[in-house]
Amino acid sequence: MTQDQMKKAAAWAALDYVTTGTIVGVGTGSTVNHFIDALATIKDQIKGAVSSSVQSTEKMRALGIQVLDLNEVETFGVYVDGADEINPQKHMIKGGGAALTREKIVAAVAEKFVCIVDQTKQVEVLGTFPLPVEVIPMARAYVARELEKLGGRPVWREQVVTDNGNIILDVHGLRITEPEQLEQQINNLVGVVTNGIFARRAADIVLVGTAEGTKILN
Ligand code: A5P
Repeated sequence: MTQDQMKKAAAWAALDYVTTGTIVGVGTGSTVNHFIDALATIKDQIKGAVSSSVQSTEKMRALGIQVLDLNEVETFGVYVDGADEINPQKHMIKGGGAALTREKIVAAVAEKFVCIVDQTKQVEVLGTFPLPVEVIPMARAYVARELEKLGGRPVWREQVVTDNGNIILDVHGLRITEPEQLEQQINNLVGVVTNGIFARRAADIVLVGTAEGTKILN
């Protein structure tokens, strides 16, 4: 089984968590693209979707899924999204696709976070995948210096501008043993919009695509 086949299996398994007549939160990335294909098959049975990126919005609209404005939605049941890394506590690193801020906002409004990954994303300790940090452009050098003080090696993801008009610093060399604390600490730096640690809002259910089938971690 290829990595993409494992992503696809996890993504289609997430349909089991979508309740008829509800609004669905939709993340971003190659795994979520499979979920959007799955969601399109039941598009007439849901109230619509809230989206975490321009990319996912465009794909959903192209498939006829109605995309709603998050400001018009007080809460909704399930947010489905991928991750770049996930640990046994269901804390994640996200933002490989630069959509971390909108993902964190949509996830905050959802009652449940269903994370869909292939088995290569499972780690004991977060940090091998460089941690994405969305930063206001004029604060880039300042925030990079502060991230170095925290023990990381920030690298500017040049050519990338987020959906919010900001830049991304990818922080290499971190061994994230206390994700909740580091999430808060980086968010407190002036000029940081969000960082890609999802620990304060961890996943509730993880669907892991493996060579032996999709595993559910509750
Ligand atoms: C997007 O910004 C990310 O948070 C994605 O959810 C994450 O990078 C996983 O992407 P893939 O599903 O493409 O591996």
